[in-house]
Amino acid sequence: MNLQELQSTAKALVAPGKGILAADESTSTIKRRFDTIKLESTEENRRAYRELLFTTIGIQDYISGVILYDETLRQSAKDGTPFPTLLARQGVISGIKVDKGTIDMPGFPGEKITEGLDGLRGRLVEYRNLGTRFAKWRAVITIGNGIPTSTCLEANAEALARYAVLCQELDIVPIVEPEVLMDGNHTLERCAAVTEDTLHIVFSYLKKHKVILEGMLLKPNMVVSGKDCLQQASVAEVAAATVRTLRRVVPAAVPGIVFLSGGQGPEEATEHLNAMNALGYHPWELSFSYGRALQEPVLEAWRGQADKVQAAQQSFFHRAKLNGAARDGNYSTQMEKKPV
Ligand code: 13P
Repeated sequence: MNLQELQSTAKALVAPGKGILAADESTSTIKRRFDTIKLESTEENRRAYRELLFTTIGIQDYISGVILYDETLRQSAKDGTPFPTLLARQGVISGIKVDKGTIDMPGFPGEKITEGLDGLRGRLVEYRNLGTRFAKWRAVITIGNGIPTSTCLEANAEALARYAVLCQELDIVPIVEPEVLMDGNHTLERCAAVTEDTLHIVFSYLKKHKVILEGMLLKPNMVVSGKDCLQQASVAEVAAATVRTLRRVVPAAVPGIVFLSGGQGPEEATEHLNAMNALGYHPWELSFSYGRALQEPVLEAWRGQADKVQAAQQSFFHRAKLNGAARDGNYSTQMEKKPV
């Protein structure tokens, strides 16, 4: 293990003004996204869409890395350039989703466990040879009546820790992603309590499994009100609750925290990140690793039409730039209207 390499990759991913694009939708997830624009999910449409994202001019000013899915990692641009090579030429680091998705956790109704540890060491060797320098594993925690249980939190934390240490063995930076879902009518306070418990358990398992904190990134949910909660917290309340929760449980040795958007709207996700960075000094970089919050407007502008590629790329550039500004607390909602 080369700690220096791990640290420099982790630092580059959370460089000032930059964050990560999560473009690692599995084949079934991207189908759901394409359904919203009535586009068939063929291998060529998936390839063309990712080419649109990765060839957006100037994106490297705001995007440090891209998380890919196995299929995308092996695909190429129209001119034959493999996607990881195309990204590397722009100074963008390639990452890879390595979990195999979630299943219902046996014995624990309503809860999920993530699969994908079997054979992971071999897959990581191949991914590293294909040019990836960081990875992602997502655990899903559901808030509900009597859940999450400690058994579910511990089982998911152990899987995250085992994945993370395997990555570090090969100098691949693990993004540790325990996502507490927004689904439900719970309050901000409940989300805060569950997120704190989850992260506390995750970090205790990372320690047990000897994960080097300096060579990883954390990808958590923000502390928000449940989607169906009648009393939705304000931007300022979300920012304060999220930072307070993270300060309690995330060691300062972790170089960066890259939030998922988790179903927040694009502007909402940018506003929340901005408000947190505007609060002042934090012991870690606070950045983004958004999927939907970066891509929703892009898909909407593109709709699978070749003559809309440029408009879609402008929309991607704009969203990335605004999130880049939110990294430093320099975003304002007026910037939404500014032409690119
Ligand atoms: P969202 O930002 O759409 O939640 O996706 C981020 C991600 O990578 C989830 O695993």
